[in-house]
Amino acid sequence: MQETRKDPPGREFLPRHVGIIMDGNGRWAKARSLPRELGHQAGSKVVGNIVRHCKKLGIPAITVYAFSTENWKRPQKEVNALLELLRRFLSNMEEYQRENARLRVLGDPSPLPPDLREAIVKAQEGSKDNTAITVNIALNYGGRAEILHSVKALARDCAAGALDPEAITEEDISRRLYTAGQSDPDLIIRPSGEQRLSNFLLWQSAYSELVFLNVLWPDFTPEHLNYALHQYALRDRRYGGV
Ligand code: FPP
Repeated sequence: MQETRKDPPGREFLPRHVGIIMDGNGRWAKARSLPRELGHQAGSKVVGNIVRHCKKLGIPAITVYAFSTENWKRPQKEVNALLELLRRFLSNMEEYQRENARLRVLGDPSPLPPDLREAIVKAQEGSKDNTAITVNIALNYGGRAEILHSVKALARDCAAGALDPEAITEEDISRRLYTAGQSDPDLIIRPSGEQRLSNFLLWQSAYSELVFLNVLWPDFTPEHLNYALHQYALRDRRYGGV
């Protein structure tokens, strides 16, 4: 089945925040008898294109799943290649300023190499006043780890007497997540044929619409995004109501 559309839906039908699980880099490489690292390299080239397309459409936020808390289990060579791609991506300050893009990193930076942690601080600080689009990179990110992070912060506040456990609200939990202050993703897209969330934005995806595509991430184009946006526009979002 054709999973592309030339034109996006009308502006009023667009999501405000799109999440993407960039899957299929390994299979893309394998199909070409290439090492997996080259699949990630090809995948990293797609990210900028898709961000620019979102910006052009007026979608104010995008979150891409770049490296999960589980990805450390991969061979060291592959982990190093992924971290190197992220290092390059985050160091591309000129591009963020040119695109007026605000960069945020979601996840626990503490186990990352010091230079990468520094690149994160610089990219976030240098782009914090940009207004055209927010680009969240989920890096050493896990949905459960993020909820745990929020729960620990809440527990500390309770222990310090700053918060009454009985008075904790959903908003108190949201405010302590890595996405604090941002809207939840309206649409989550997963290419490559897999149909699961894999620990991505577990709290924030409570009412997200999910679109699964068969294309592998390195082959993902703005036309695939248009198709997913049309699928989203057809959905009837009821949030538990009627
Ligand atoms: C899943 O494909 C993809 C990843 C684990 C990493 C995604 C990372 C990038 C696209 C590059 C770096 C990101 C940025 C923002 C520059 P897989 O390896 O699980 O594919 P497979 O299921 O086919 O093996």
